[in-house]
Amino acid sequence: MCGIVGYIGKGNVYDILIKGLHRLEYRGYDSAGIALVDKDGKLKVYKTKGKVSNLEDYCQDKNTEAGAGIAHTRWATHGEPSDKNAHPHYSEDGNLALVHNGTIENYKILKDALEQHGCKFQSETDTEVLVQLIEYIKVKNNCSLADAVREAMNQVVGAYAIAVVEKDKPDTIIAARKSSPLVIGIGDDETFLASDATPFVEYTKDVVYLKDEEIAIIKQGEPLKVLTLDNRESKIDVTTLELSISQLEKGGYPHFMLKEIFEQPDTLRDCIRGRIIDGGGKINISGLNDNKEKFCEAKRIVIVACGTSWHAALLGKYLIQDMCRIPVEVEYASEFRYSNPVLDDKDVVIAISQSGETADTLAAAKIAREMGAFVFGISNSVGSSIPRETDSGTYIHVGPEIGVASTKAFTGQVMVLTLLALGIAQMRNTMDEAKIKEIGREVLHIPEYVQEVLKLNDTIERLSLIYTYARNFLYLGRGYSYPVALEGALKLKEISYIHAEGYPAAEMKHGPIALIDAEMPSVIIAPQDHLYEKIVSNVQQVKARGGNIIAIVTKGDTVIRNIADHVLEVPELPECLTPIITSIPLQLLSYYIAINKGKDVDMPRNLAKSVTVE
Ligand code: AGP
Ligand code: GLU
Repeated sequence: MCGIVGYIGKGNVYDILIKGLHRLEYRGYDSAGIALVDKDGKLKVYKTKGKVSNLEDYCQDKNTEAGAGIAHTRWATHGEPSDKNAHPHYSEDGNLALVHNGTIENYKILKDALEQHGCKFQSETDTEVLVQLIEYIKVKNNCSLADAVREAMNQVVGAYAIAVVEKDKPDTIIAARKSSPLVIGIGDDETFLASDATPFVEYTKDVVYLKDEEIAIIKQGEPLKVLTLDNRESKIDVTTLELSISQLEKGGYPHFMLKEIFEQPDTLRDCIRGRIIDGGGKINISGLNDNKEKFCEAKRIVIVACGTSWHAALLGKYLIQDMCRIPVEVEYASEFRYSNPVLDDKDVVIAISQSGETADTLAAAKIAREMGAFVFGISNSVGSSIPRETDSGTYIHVGPEIGVASTKAFTGQVMVLTLLALGIAQMRNTMDEAKIKEIGREVLHIPEYVQEVLKLNDTIERLSLIYTYARNFLYLGRGYSYPVALEGALKLKEISYIHAEGYPAAEMKHGPIALIDAEMPSVIIAPQDHLYEKIVSNVQQVKARGGNIIAIVTKGDTVIRNIADHVLEVPELPECLTPIITSIPLQLLSYYIAINKGKDVDMPRNLAKSVTVE
């Protein structure tokens, strides 16, 4: 959580930082702030509650001239969103200003100790402890800022990515990280620093991903220097970014979420490209092919993830179990990591994360590796922590997802899991070659099917008007459509703040059926599959209790059409491929309901795009 950006160079420091904050705003938007060191060595800190635009208004009449600066957009973990808890935090003597992404677990002990030395705190955050501690060490040891940061980091327990500036030093930024991401952009006589590369993609493609427990000394006119916590100089690996500025803009859509929904034919094409060869008959995923032995010998597969990625993981279980006949377990990463898991070197663990930075998923992957399992990462964000900390893996290649509600990343994850299941089945000979080829060929047509489903847009927009003011929703599905129901419900609640429950359709009669009345619509995902007859009965059961039904059905369906209040038709596909297309009408439904309610769909309240804290 939280976005950090820093800049030193010939450009306009304030403008670059503000633009960078806008790009990082998806990471948190409780408050925003900026610290600028001007050429005369003065340190100016401006910060305010709310979004980056509030900070811009606040700074309108302020002196924003600077040689170096750091900025922050917050997702609060310690202390309410307020002006005083906004970052940057500064040392009591006003010498240092610091921004932080992460949480400091031993902040209370450190705070008590500093208070005993007479230090006075302004905020309720864990972050302020860092800046006070660094200044305390700097004065006590009479050392440089970099040395003080290094010593402080040795005392801190928790997760952090920090950037610090110092009064009288308009040419220096010190940064450090452990568990929270930080990337440095090396430009022509200018250096950038950010939580991800989006703030500086138009200025430079040369980046250095700071590693855990490293400190960067960024000094204008000097080459970047990176030290370890035990003061050894680190080798600097410069990587070239593959990210374009157009991928970060709305491209004429009112919201990123809608743009990302409509991009899905293209993103799925990118995701599939080169991975199905021989006319559908051969699956080609390098991370899989290079580790054939691991996947062939696996006795069990455990998939760990959070949120939407967990829903994709659940689909992964259905796919892998069906096609590969291997037992698959799906765990919430946050539960798995503290569950004393039983794993060994015959287990394959798949960690799924769009951002590649989710703290719980990263920790689960690390634990699994420590226990000897082979860990395979599935991520969207190239160079992020999960791909770097796993044994092997693959990317979903759907481009940056900015809307907080995940859409194109979900379908990309499901696509990759489908290909992975087909690939493992091929390796383990658990599926007929002709069947693999038949599904493989259909996969190649998925982008066209998705394009067709998107034509439902106008119908769904009209339909949304009928249900905008419903207070509760039930989403029901069976088999492959059950995880889709969970995902549909999550989409609705996170952006429209309507309570929604996803449920296995047959389980509904064991409790939730009591909720059904004319005020509680049910969205039922009921494509033609081997459970179709069963779900028809569940549709009848809802109708018999006077519930309103929106059903997602296969084109040409007549049975459910006669029972449901509204039907949305999707093309006919093999059962294992239906989730990718049935999830799309649900994305649009949640989008339009949220828009009708006037909600901020790209930045829903209390949320942030990547959850890098526990
Ligand atoms: C999705 O709409 C959510 N905002 C959220 O559940 C998300 O999927 C979750 O935080 C996991 O993120 P990750 O895929 O980046 O790990
Ligand atoms: N713990 C810090 C705060 O509450 C930073 C939060 C974060 O990075 O999510 O301000």
